[in-house]
Amino acid sequence: MNILFIGDVVSSMGRDMVKEYLPKLKEKYRPHITIVNGENAAGGKGITEKIYRGFLEIGAQAVTLGNHTWDNREIFEFIDHAKYLVRPANFPENNPGQGIVYLKMNSEEIAVISLQGRTFLAANDCPFQKADQLIEEAKVRTPIIFVDFHAEATSEKQAMGWYLDGRVSAVIGTHTHVQTADHRILPKGTAFMSDVGMTGPYDEILGMDKEVVIRRFLTGLPGRFEVPKTGRAQLSAVCIEIDNKTGNAKKITPILINEDHPFYS
Ligand SMILES: [Fe+2]
Ligand SMILES: [Fe+2]
Repeated sequence: MNILFIGDVVSSMGRDMVKEYLPKLKEKYRPHITIVNGENAAGGKGITEKIYRGFLEIGAQAVTLGNHTWDNREIFEFIDHAKYLVRPANFPENNPGQGIVYLKMNSEEIAVISLQGRTFLAANDCPFQKADQLIEEAKVRTPIIFVDFHAEATSEKQAMGWYLDGRVSAVIGTHTHVQTADHRILPKGTAFMSDVGMTGPYDEILGMDKEVVIRRFLTGLPGRFEVPKTGRAQLSAVCIEIDNKTGNAKKITPILINEDHPFYS
């Protein structure tokens, strides 16, 4: 089974990139399952029901979230009936939504898990212990398990990769919005990458208006992050080939599309 995973989609520019390139990526990489991280899809902060449904309509099977899960208030109205929306599983117990989703692909099943790191992020429940618990649950149904680890620190991400090596098919990082070049298959068969990167404005800072970000660094004064609506855009993704029987990864291919890294079909 091939899984295509698209990193943090930021606002309309990011969504347009997914729309434009998903058909081309499907043709080139032949994914059976496509997963999109949509935590920044609505104007850089959170997601709406229309955007979530839009991702499913254009060919994604699941949408993962992260620390921006609750930023768009509309989420509270639809998260509990959004069957393919996955928010970090280690959020407090009573939070709405779900941290694990099962997808069907012919006779196979795949578990999609979202976890959030705790270094430089909110003090949620332990993502490592939560991973243990969810993997035990998922293993009863399927050996194919995909983990989106939404975290800031590369050390925490590597720790999760090594901790879960051989127990899940892939641990792919999100959140930093910068693609790392450390994709590999760990010795016991788990595909790993510290961060898949961001899909959205290319000439800005992590997808946010660079002038505002620079001004904040220069002055130390607060400034509202703005997401540009026009300009050059990029898409960041990764494709993972998995052995259906063992759940082990066989190949991991990073994907980066922008004017400095053109797409070849
Ligand atoms: Fe993000
Ligand atoms: Fe994030």
